[in-house]
Amino acid sequence: MSKAPLAAYPALRLRRLRQADWVRRMVRETALTPADLIWSMVVHDGEGQVPVPSMPGVSRFSIQDAVAAAKEARALGIPAIAIFPHIDGAKKDATGALAHDPDGLICRAVKAMKDAAPEVGIMCDVALDPFTDHGHDGLIENGKISNDATIERLVLQGLVQAQAGCDILAPSDMMDGRCGVLRSALEAEGLQDVMIMSYAAKFASAFYGPYRDAIGSGKLGTGGSPVDKKTYQMDAANHQEALREVAMDIAEGADMVMVKPGLPYLDIVRQVVDAFQVPTFAYQVSGEYAMLMAAAQNGWLDEERAILETLGSFKRAGASGVITYFAPRAARLLGA
Ligand code: PBG
Repeated sequence: MSKAPLAAYPALRLRRLRQADWVRRMVRETALTPADLIWSMVVHDGEGQVPVPSMPGVSRFSIQDAVAAAKEARALGIPAIAIFPHIDGAKKDATGALAHDPDGLICRAVKAMKDAAPEVGIMCDVALDPFTDHGHDGLIENGKISNDATIERLVLQGLVQAQAGCDILAPSDMMDGRCGVLRSALEAEGLQDVMIMSYAAKFASAFYGPYRDAIGSGKLGTGGSPVDKKTYQMDAANHQEALREVAMDIAEGADMVMVKPGLPYLDIVRQVVDAFQVPTFAYQVSGEYAMLMAAAQNGWLDEERAILETLGSFKRAGASGVITYFAPRAARLLGA
């Protein structure tokens, strides 16, 4: 029996380059390394670690734990840590006054972490929500979030963080014009080396739920409804507006930009990377972490493979890196 004519074979056999691990590694187009990871971490004012129920494997860290974590990040090759405060409910007020306390939790954590591991970058959120009793990122005037009054507070907050030694200010509030005002305030105070990574394209998302549990800003009143941030965070249906947000923040002096959440917004990451020449990061948020861990704990997903596959997808989309609660775990899986 003669073989089928040549033309019957596939003209191309793309599987040839997949036949063994060595060749798959050889032709791999993107790679994830520990240098791509920014460790997202919640700190609290008490002792020890307090597990966050909706985020298995994640705990709020005491300042002492955060210091140990900074040394761990250095050993693992993780370049930076993003810290977020859990504030005792009794200390919150309508204006989030504690946000700009130079002796507050975040400033003390920054100093301690930079003292212990100066080689690790520290990034701080600039927004009022951990400190306000209503859970909004800004000040409320006549029932609305007031853009310009909020910015005045954000500048005070950003300056105390920068003076404490924070390397990167990350405004996550979505007020218009905050990057420019922050940038000029830093210049005026002689803090011109402090970087700004703006939460430029931040969407009003259901995926922040577990984070709001973690920092204790989840609901309006006990058992109340989730805080609705749609008058300042972006509509999930929009992509052109995301490019306008990014353009605006770059023009105002942001050094780096971020897309948040991550996985449901990979298209936005790719569009931003293609449109601008600026380091672009994605935030794999609390709900993405919770979703993956819940499935893994049910035995429905292979946890380690799913962690590395999702983190790797951000690199494929063109991101410079990922802010993630998986950072230390992923760095270890990557052999750090
Ligand atoms: C608030 C802020 C949020 C996150 C980071 N900064 C939540 C929100 O906007 O309600 C979310 C992080 C996460 O879900 O992991 N300024």
